[in-house]
Amino acid sequence: MSNKMWGGRFASAPDAIMEEINASIDFDRELFRQDIAASKAHVAMLAETGIVEADDAAAIGRGLDAVLAEIESGRFTFSRALEDIHMNVESRLTDLVGPAAGRLHTARSRNDQVAVDFRLWVRDAVDALDGQMRDLQIALVDRALEHASAVMPGFTHLQPAQPITFGHHLMAYVEMIGRDRGRLADARRRMNECPLGAAALAGTSFPIDRYKTAIALGFDRPTANSLDSVSDRDFALEVLAAAAICATHLSRFAEEIVLWTGPFFGFLKLSDKFSTGSSIMPQKRNPDAAELARGKTGRILGALQGLLVVMKGLPLAYSKDMQEDKEGVFDAVRSLSLCLAAMTGMTRDMSVDVARMKATAGAGYATATDLADWLVRRLGLPFREAHHVTGKLVGVAAAREVGLEDLSLADMRSVEPRIEQDVFDVLGVEKSVASRTSYGGAAPDNVRAQAESWRARLAAEPG
Ligand code: ARG
Repeated sequence: MSNKMWGGRFASAPDAIMEEINASIDFDRELFRQDIAASKAHVAMLAETGIVEADDAAAIGRGLDAVLAEIESGRFTFSRALEDIHMNVESRLTDLVGPAAGRLHTARSRNDQVAVDFRLWVRDAVDALDGQMRDLQIALVDRALEHASAVMPGFTHLQPAQPITFGHHLMAYVEMIGRDRGRLADARRRMNECPLGAAALAGTSFPIDRYKTAIALGFDRPTANSLDSVSDRDFALEVLAAAAICATHLSRFAEEIVLWTGPFFGFLKLSDKFSTGSSIMPQKRNPDAAELARGKTGRILGALQGLLVVMKGLPLAYSKDMQEDKEGVFDAVRSLSLCLAAMTGMTRDMSVDVARMKATAGAGYATATDLADWLVRRLGLPFREAHHVTGKLVGVAAAREVGLEDLSLADMRSVEPRIEQDVFDVLGVEKSVASRTSYGGAAPDNVRAQAESWRARLAAEPG
């Protein structure tokens, strides 16, 4: 039997392999809510413009509600022979409503249908991800305020660089997630135009009102070019790009949790709720959630790459290649959502060994820059020369395997005779960090002010 939706000129059914490669229902059923909402808006508009009789439109509207209820309650039978969500819904609608159901597809095509459904889905996903990113920011800000003055080593090249505070470190991620949210918001603004009514590619001869459907579906306006409307998936690409960058941020934080919960760093501990054991090594506590957040970044980055490659050689307008747009996006959104939840959970769960952090904050001569700055400030040395003098002093201390603060004044003077006793005032890690008062610097007062301002900003956001 040929396809009942488009089989008019077909004498036989498709080959089994044709059906298998063609069908998208196994994954695009995910769009059922959006598909039905868009159809309801479309048929209401068809009635208001007099293209379809009010009675038929009302019957179709009721039928669509019934289909929605069937799918939601798990009573709906999806059919591969009907290819995709659009034809599965319409076919069931025909069972329920009779031939009048056939009027729903007036002045539209599956090309604009899938374009609008997918946009609606991606828009919902953006809103949900944004809420989760906000939750993570709130958790980070809470912990940053708690540890605004907890001194820890700051690293470059993963070598001890200068003391910072744990709060300062966490606030760095608040800024990153803030920009991730900004990227999603930009993408949302651009995507919020409705492609419905572009029909197959050229628009339609029916007197449709595209503003009506656009507004009914929460879009700002209809898209302006029918060809573009059914051809592009840049809205999905933008969201994938934003997701990929966010996942990359989360992955770096996850990597730090992996490192810092290990005994060599020993800065953090995850509770039993966020640790797993080993089946052979009884002593193990593994940070699997952090490792998986780091690992899932791979598939999110892959989804962006995958869709870019699908799109790159396609002539306008629609080609069936574009059916490959959905699975990667669904998977990337699901994965990022899980990663965000896990990172938020771990941020709230982790206990912080402030004593251990502080004890290691001065390791590797992390206050050497403070010494160099003292030489500049007090003795008026050019920074390059101060750097050189400090380097020599670090050499002396390293040869004796002691810290800079353990050198005597005489040791100091053997390298630079003008050094005074008060040089020791800048060599403690607490003093070092407290002196970083430049805007955006690591000083505890700065960190507290920054965290308080974010807290207020996040609290003022709607929702
Ligand atoms: N299942 C299709 C997709 O996801 C819907 C659009 C089909 N359009 C077409 N001209 N065959 O892209």
